Amino acid sequence: MASRVIPEDMLELARRYRDRPYAPYSRFRVVSVVRGESGRLYVGVNVENASYGLTVCAERVAIFNAVTEGERRIREVLVYALDSDEPVFPCGACRQVIAEFSPDGSAIVYAYSAKTGKWGAALLRDLLPEAFKLETSE
Ligand code: THU
Repeated sequence: MASRVIPEDMLELARRYRDRPYAPYSRFRVVSVVRGESGRLYVGVNVENASYGLTVCAERVAIFNAVTEGERRIREVLVYALDSDEPVFPCGACRQVIAEFSPDGSAIVYAYSAKTGKWGAALLRDLLPEAFKLETSE
């Protein structure tokens, strides 16, 4: 586990978006904030669908927003869970997506429970050792 505390600017942005998750099926609301190489922050929320498998996690929405704005490296990822007593770390699919933009695994992932204030932090390389890489990727 990395021991860095969660940056206040990331927590503050997540709090501002606490009403934005669309999670009528699971009622498990998540906001994610990522920091790109430029230092700028990007936000995403989970967006569910009546066809459950089409749901997209908050982390992927945040990362895709960052990439859309021109970022190609992700430095930090916050997972801000509104309905869980325990902090939650990204699912396997999201870990692979973070790896795409943190090829050396140095991205710091913070997990935070808005219900209890419990939190944790870990490096991507510890959450997803041996991430899949395609030699031709950017
Ligand atoms: N979810 C996220 O958005 N991020 C996570 O790290 C864990 C899971 C969402 C997906 C789904 O909408 C709901 O939480 C329950 O799995």
